[in-house]
Amino acid sequence: MTTTAVKPRVMSGMRPTGGLHLGHLVGVLTQWATYCDTSDAYFEIADLHAYTTGYEDPQSIRDARNEMVAVWLAAGVDPQKSTIFLQSAVPEIAELHTMLSMITPVSWLERVPTYKGQIDALGQHVATYGFLGYPLLQLCDIAIVRGERVPVGRDQVAHLEFGREVVRRFNFLYGEGNDVLVEPQPTLTEFAEVPGSDGRKMSKSYNNAILIADDEETTTKKVRGFITDPQKLRKGDPGHPEVCPVFALWKFVNPLKVDGIAAECRSGALGCVADKSDFAEQLNAYLRPVRERLNVYRDDPAQVERIIAEGTARTREIASAVIADVKRAMRLL
Ligand code: TRP
Repeated sequence: MTTTAVKPRVMSGMRPTGGLHLGHLVGVLTQWATYCDTSDAYFEIADLHAYTTGYEDPQSIRDARNEMVAVWLAAGVDPQKSTIFLQSAVPEIAELHTMLSMITPVSWLERVPTYKGQIDALGQHVATYGFLGYPLLQLCDIAIVRGERVPVGRDQVAHLEFGREVVRRFNFLYGEGNDVLVEPQPTLTEFAEVPGSDGRKMSKSYNNAILIADDEETTTKKVRGFITDPQKLRKGDPGHPEVCPVFALWKFVNPLKVDGIAAECRSGALGCVADKSDFAEQLNAYLRPVRERLNVYRDDPAQVERIIAEGTARTREIASAVIADVKRAMRLL
């Protein structure tokens, strides 16, 4: 038995929507990189999921695919020690989705909070059949590789809970005492809240994000545009670092400087302009190695394609065994 056999199977995914930013890097991708060492990790390009809200613009989903994977690799996700795969290229996922849809009550899907929430936020054009089924498709992503642990943010826990119920129902109906499908456990990673330039959560859709792909000049300009403590109008005014998004970002970029900056901000010795220019420099230094690696992968699209193709082939081997088990249990075989 190889050592990988005893490592837990971790599975997670991301929709290729483009514009990966500092929040993705410090919140998610650095953790994904560590899973490469500690687990048997599967990372999915959830391109079908991207169509649930982005079906009107297929080209941007296509364009985001390789770019997103290039950022994953640049952030330290190691394709030698993990499996990166493309959702739409694993037809077993869609097959499982159809089979599980037969036993999934519509009311369970309607109850998932993101369903109504996203329709309210994005409008009726997202109220498709596929969008309703989003959490079921997500379960299929996980179940198709027998994923045991799923590192996700808080907003995804309801999807996992739903998925676990579907698995229990399947095993109850067809398992004859066996767990044909694995109940996935969310690994609630306290994803660091990374604020953007307006103090809200950093997000491409809020237009407040520092992108991994930004150049250094753009980064510096964006840092200058960050809000700070609204009560600190000029250098000399005592500041409140705990309300300042620039201060919050310092913690990721250079934790050693945090105490000193907090003290000098409070006393008034440090002004926001000086702090921002120091921070922009440090942030660019922090991002430089990632950006350099990103450029290497961008210059070699064939390598990125190969990594995705190899990972997808490995995934399909497991997926076809799972489909066979599911079909046997459902008396389709
Ligand atoms: N729904 C996830 C998100 O928006 C992305 C995703 C798709 C996913 N399939 C997954 C996450 C499977 C974990 C496991 O962030």
